Amino acid sequence: MQIRDEVFDDRAAVFALTHAAFAGTDPVAEPAEVDLLRNLFTDPGYDPHYSLVAVDTPVVIGHVIATWGSIDDSKPVLGVGPVAVSPEYQRNGVGSMLMQTLHDRAQAQGLPGIVLLGDPKYYGRFGYEAAAKYGIVPSDPSWGDYFMVRVFDEATLPAGNFRYAASFAC
Ligand SMILES: CC(C)(COP(=O)(O)OP(=O)(O)OC[C@H]1O[C@@H](n2cnc3c(N)ncnc32)[C@H](O)[C@@H]1OP(=O)(O)O)[C@@H](O)C(=O)NCCC(=O)NCCS
Repeated sequence: MQIRDEVFDDRAAVFALTHAAFAGTDPVAEPAEVDLLRNLFTDPGYDPHYSLVAVDTPVVIGHVIATWGSIDDSKPVLGVGPVAVSPEYQRNGVGSMLMQTLHDRAQAQGLPGIVLLGDPKYYGRFGYEAAAKYGIVPSDPSWGDYFMVRVFDEATLPAGNFRYAASFAC
């Protein structure tokens, strides 16, 4: 298994695996995450450096994306999501490798932290903590402790009101 940058030709596979990973009981209904991804790929917050695929050559089996949001409309901060692994490849460490590679890149670029909305039971294992602890406030207060930050450098981490890339529409 290999993690590499997503390229345009991966996108059909990325949409398909995201559909499969987020599918509800109706197999025909498209999960909202697929449309979100479609929009994120043309969003001004899209950054190819932070869209990664996991490949079991030649099959694309996982994808993670982080896009640029902002704090107080002025300080750029990456927001993670969606992340998805093909159902038949889940629980083999693929999601963890995608997250780890994303974090390595963010750290190598000197970013102070990265945020996401997700389940603390899963993301806690990657060092995510409640963003409120660091004064980072989500656009929807009901997210509570599900809105989290992975801190790389507390001294330079901005506090304030976080807003995701426009495609999230929240
Ligand atoms: C979440 C997801 C990306 C994890 O990918 P993965 O390759 O299965 O992850 P890993 O193999 O690295 O880790 C698996 C572990 O995560 C746990 N896990 C997965 N989803 C979880 C969740 N929502 N809450 C808590 N734990 C979760 C599994 O129970 C497993 O735990 P274990 O190691 O103690 O057995 C994958 O399960 C997926 O695509 N899920 C559907 C889409 C989704 O919910 N995406 C995340 C929200 S954006």
